[in-house]
This record gives sequence, C-alpha cells and structure tokens, in this order.
Amino acid sequence: MITLQQIDKAFQTPEGEPLKAISSASLQIEEGDIYGIIGFSGAGKSTLLRTINLLERPDSGKVIVDGQDMLALSEKELRQARMSIGMIFQHFNLLNNRTVYENVSFPLEIAGVAKADRKARIEECLRIVGLEDKANAYPAKLSGGQKQRVAIARALANRPKVLLCDEPTSSVDPSTTGSILAFLKEINERLGITIVIVTHEMNVIKSICNKVAVMEHGIVVEKFEMNDTKFVPKSNIAQFLFNNEIILDKREAAYV
Ligand SMILES: Nc1ncnc2c1ncn2[C@@H]1O[C@H](COP(=O)(O)OP(=O)(O)O)[C@@H](O)[C@H]1O
Ligand SMILES: [Mg+2]
Repeated sequence: MITLQQIDKAFQTPEGEPLKAISSASLQIEEGDIYGIIGFSGAGKSTLLRTINLLERPDSGKVIVDGQDMLALSEKELRQARMSIGMIFQHFNLLNNRTVYENVSFPLEIAGVAKADRKARIEECLRIVGLEDKANAYPAKLSGGQKQRVAIARALANRPKVLLCDEPTSSVDPSTTGSILAFLKEINERLGITIVIVTHEMNVIKSICNKVAVMEHGIVVEKFEMNDTKFVPKSNIAQFLFNNEIILDKREAAYV
C-alpha cells in the first residue's frame, strides 16, 4: 500500500550546515497494517511520516502510495491523491471558529462535495467516533480526547484508504489514550483503512500495531512484526524500548 524507498531529507539551518533529518529510510507498509514508527524526540519520525503525503518533499528516494508514484504527480493529481490520505496530529489542528460539524465538513467543502451529500457523510463520521451529540459544539468546549475524535472524524470525511497519525495520543489525558487507540483499531478493522502511527510511547505500539520501525538519528535502525516471538532487538534503542516494556509488564503483573 505504501512504499518508502531510500528516503533522504535535509533541512537548511541558520548556521548554514544542512541538518540531515532522514537518511536512506525505507519502509514497506501493506494494506490493512497498523504500522508504528517509534523513536525519541528528534529521531525524524514526523518528517518521515510527512513524506508519505508529501507535506515534506524528500531530497531523494521514492514514495509510492496505492500504486501511485507520488513524486511524479502534478499539483492537481497530488491534491486528488491527498484526499485518500487522511492525517491527524498531536495538537489536533481543529478550526476553532467552526463547530464540530463544520470542522468535519471542511475537507468535504474543499473536495467540492454537494451539501446534501456532505450532511450524510458528516453524520456518519461523527457516529463512528461517538460524537453525534457534540455536532454544534465549538472545539474550545471539548476535552483533548474529544478534540482528537473530531480530528479523526474530519480525517475520515473523504473516505481515505490511509490514515497518518502523528503522536495522536501525546496531548490527551492518559485515561483517554485507550479510547483513541480503540477508535483507530476499529477504523482499521471495520473500514479497512491502513494506519501509520508515529509515537514515542511503546504502549501505543503494543496495544494496536502489527508492525513497527524503530528510528534513531534519521535512520530506520530496526523493523519487526509484533507477533514475531523469536525477534531479538539488536539496537540499543530497541532493547531500551523492549526492556521498558518488560519492566512495565512486571509492574502490571504485581497488580494481577
Ligand atoms: N521544518 C524544519 N526545519 C528545520 N529542521 C527541521 C524541520 N522539521 C524537522 N526538523 C529537524 O529534523 C529533525 C527530525 O525532526 P522530526 O521529524 O520532527 O523528529 P521527531 O518527529 O522524531 O521528533 C530534528 O532535528 C528537527 O529539529
Ligand atoms: Mg514528531
């Protein structure tokens, strides 16, 4: 469904020396995956995620989404391709002067969907995230978890095949994290949407991802499947993540 091949990306810095954010990163994401990208802050996770819909244009490499060579598209074709790639962010990025209903309507208006069709689609998306009763509320009146659910509904409006999630639970109450992840899992299973999720939290990976790539200093250092019981982490960072998981499991076991 998504192929990233040998992606390189550097940013210009004020000091003049370019900063290499991504070096030769390759990922293969299949239809139906919930693919996690984990690493510490500054590892290049967001930059790599944003090359999938070309919010960041790589300096070199290949980006294929649903059979389309993204870097070969015209502006118009790219706008069209982006409609089948939804995205949600850590800080929700809702439009504060629009109601919940109007936020979900926004991408449909841009796509030129007729008003009568918009209504049905908006109601369907709000139903999926359980927020029908908040349709007329403004974002300021919502909790973090509710805001992220609006963002998910908005990302689903154009019926995407892929949903990109950049730290979707990092700004919500820890008690709400589980419900956000449950909505993402349900969207994946029920609507068949392929999900790519960037996080620095191993519990996010553990609870919903079937595959994971570990990033450090702009490099994909390891990739593994979550159900691979024989997998032994080789890099320090993957070992750290795994060890933390073990510590957590032990602590959890104390409560059983
Ligand atoms: N637009 C930008 N301009 C300059 N540097 C950037 C930009 N975006 C990201 N970077 C730098 O690239 C590196 C990777 O950033 P990012 O992809 O945001 O990492 P992560 O999401 O893993 O925290 C960091 O050093 C960051 O400061
Ligand atoms: Mg980031």
